Amino acid sequence: MVATSAPGKAILFGEHSVVYGEPAVAVAIDARVHITVEPCEGAWKMDGYPLDGDRHPHVASLLDAVLGEDFQSHAIQVRSDLFPAAGLGSSAALSAAGCAALLSISNEPLDKEKIATFAHLAEAQAQAGRASPTDTSTATLGGCVLVSDKREESANWQYTRSLETPEGERVWEIHSVNLPPSASEMWLVVGYTGIHAPTAELVKGVADLLTRNPAKMEDITRMGEVARNGVAALSAGDFIQVGELMDEAHILLAGLGVSCPELDDMVEVARRTSFGAKLTGAGGGGCMLALTDKPDETAAALEMRGRRVLVTPLGAPGVTVEKASKN
Ligand code: MEV
Repeated sequence: MVATSAPGKAILFGEHSVVYGEPAVAVAIDARVHITVEPCEGAWKMDGYPLDGDRHPHVASLLDAVLGEDFQSHAIQVRSDLFPAAGLGSSAALSAAGCAALLSISNEPLDKEKIATFAHLAEAQAQAGRASPTDTSTATLGGCVLVSDKREESANWQYTRSLETPEGERVWEIHSVNLPPSASEMWLVVGYTGIHAPTAELVKGVADLLTRNPAKMEDITRMGEVARNGVAALSAGDFIQVGELMDEAHILLAGLGVSCPELDDMVEVARRTSFGAKLTGAGGGGCMLALTDKPDETAAALEMRGRRVLVTPLGAPGVTVEKASKN
């Protein structure tokens, strides 16, 4: 039996623009997807039912890529601490934890670059070919991750990811970011709208908008600058600046049509007790986040609005094998 887990993620800067090669900054959050895998009779199973590739495209893609055909069938059980389809990277965490479990049952080394690669390809397959490696790299590496179109001196380069997308080949450089000690006094309050937001549709919506209105590409470029300035401010421990940039990022995202009245309202409420707030992930519902040193006050304000919240430090451990035994 093998048990693995991987964290969800919260994007601080660069969602959507990262799909077009601009930088993005994400942190792993203190909420995980847990997977167990054990041998079983008959076909592969997922949560007690025969595995259906249409319902679980990430797992089907990983099985193909990691094990190929004719591997002993296993039963996979998934338990998640994350709000589903909420922009917190639950499918990326599932892919990273799933990949680690499959490598483990095939006695292959747990190479993090390999896990991040297979998880990214699974995510891309499920998102009609348009997926940045942000979510899957954060689920794999943990901590704080910077994804960029070039190797950044300010961060620790880890590996390169490339992908053939409908708009051509994209290449991303993946880095870990060392946060200053003062970051341990900061919290992210994540508020959930309760609205399911399928990433693939939102990413397609932005692609369609850019085709109809190519001038919007200027906003994508500005989002990249905001992300670059954001990571510099974060590394310097300048949380006031980080918050201001988060506020600007929210306006730019709303301009791409990926916010909604519920997100705008929650962002507005959270800003009263935080350094800054924005939607996080694909948008269209899903979650917002606020950076604050008063997490209880921010969380209470969102709960008063009837929202579910999750409070997390900036960073959590990446993909982990919790148990690997013969029985
Ligand atoms: C989703 O968490 C983030 C997006 O930028 C999509 C991606 O990076 O693949 C919207």
